[in-house]
Amino acid sequence: LNQSAGALEATLALLKPDILANPAFVDSIINDIQNSGMKIALRKQVFWTQGQAEQFYAEHRRRFFFDRLVKYMTSGPVEAIALSGPNVISWWRQKMGATRPAQMRMTNPTCLRARYGLTDTRNSFHGSDSVESAKRELVFVFGQPAYKQIIL
Ligand code: PPS
Repeated sequence: LNQSAGALEATLALLKPDILANPAFVDSIINDIQNSGMKIALRKQVFWTQGQAEQFYAEHRRRFFFDRLVKYMTSGPVEAIALSGPNVISWWRQKMGATRPAQMRMTNPTCLRARYGLTDTRNSFHGSDSVESAKRELVFVFGQPAYKQIIL
């Protein structure tokens, strides 16, 4: 194990419905990830019910944007990707950029949200924000047995 490479982690990346509406975008983003050296451990297209989206985003239920977030995330299929690699949680969050695409186009124009994001709601990507969230989210999407395989 190369300690200087950082801890081996897993994370959940989501490509949101506006990305899936354009299959060429999906292919390009998947290629980009594969060329980065991070590993795509599992992929699954999901189409959440309102209840599933509310459960996934439960920590945000009191926020002003909760209803529009749930509506967006249930407006079409989502590509769920389990990524693994050294420090992959922060790697993917940096690659996405922060929440607001318009702000990212000013400050971080090469990040994915700057390139693909449409609005603060339709911001095209999700990434787990910690080891604990990654575990919860990966188990939510792929199940406990698959999670154990991913982190082996
Ligand atoms: S916080 O305060 O750091 O928890 O907020 P943030 O990480 O920026 O946002 C939490 C999730 O809510 C989404 N979000 C929004 N959705 C709809 N409309 C608005 N205005 C909005 N602002 C934030 C944001 O994209 C996060 O979801 P994910 O799927 O993790 O990107």
